[in-house]
Amino acid sequence: MLKLDRVYAGYGAIEVLKDLTLEVKAGEIVALLGANGAGKSTTLLTIAGVVPVRGGAITWREAPLPEGRPDAVLRAGLCLCPEGRHIFPRLTVLENLLSGSLRLPAGRNGPKLEEVFAYFPLLAERRAQLGGTLSGGEQQMLAIGRALMGEPQLLMLDEPSLGLAPQIVAKIFEIIRAINAKGVPILLVEQNAQQALRIAHRGYVIVTGQNSLTGTGAELLASDEVRQAYLGE
Ligand SMILES: Nc1ncnc2c1ncn2[C@@H]1O[C@H](COP(=O)(O)OP(=O)(O)OP(=O)(O)O)[C@@H](O)[C@H]1O
Ligand SMILES: [Mg+2]
Repeated sequence: MLKLDRVYAGYGAIEVLKDLTLEVKAGEIVALLGANGAGKSTTLLTIAGVVPVRGGAITWREAPLPEGRPDAVLRAGLCLCPEGRHIFPRLTVLENLLSGSLRLPAGRNGPKLEEVFAYFPLLAERRAQLGGTLSGGEQQMLAIGRALMGEPQLLMLDEPSLGLAPQIVAKIFEIIRAINAKGVPILLVEQNAQQALRIAHRGYVIVTGQNSLTGTGAELLASDEVRQAYLGE
């Protein structure tokens, strides 16, 4: 569905992605692993049209993805839940969620909200609370919920488990799996390599913006390179 073919991207004089190739097929969870600064967030931001493509091509359903146009990428159904959550602190939970559904006709908001509240019942209880007063775990649920409000055809999650207690992490991974089970392909950036590879169909390891390793979740979990570099073994 989504293909990055030999993509280059960066910031000013800094070249971050260098010849990066990856693919997300229908129905897959694909994990993107790499050290701090490897270019994982840059990969998602480039797909999302926030960081311009300098070389290579990104295609979505066999057609070129609009480049450098975040609004057009969102309208195509590629929704990013960014690193650090970036919810709106002074808007309520409900307003934050509705901000994610701007690409949909207004009539679809109700059913989408019900779907998000089914994943995260707590957000229904807290719908009138200001986003900035939620706990870290609750804010992460809100950020994922907001991305789901856009009815993603592809969901990109950047470090959804960062800074959360183990119980909440387990819940977030369970929900990622449930979202995928409903047919939404997911591109998942994670520091938590072990848990990410357990739920991923396939994964890619990138080193300084370049492809290093790829394989099924199980293959990568078993690989020496991944075990040493990302699982601390
Ligand atoms: N807006 C920016 N301007 C200049 N350089 C940037 C910018 N954003 C990121 N970089 C640089 O690009 C490189 C890749 O950053 P990126 O955020 O993609 O890494 P990452 O793999 O997501 O790392 P982390 O695991 O720490 O989140 C880093 O060297 C970073 O300093
Ligand atoms: Mg990052």
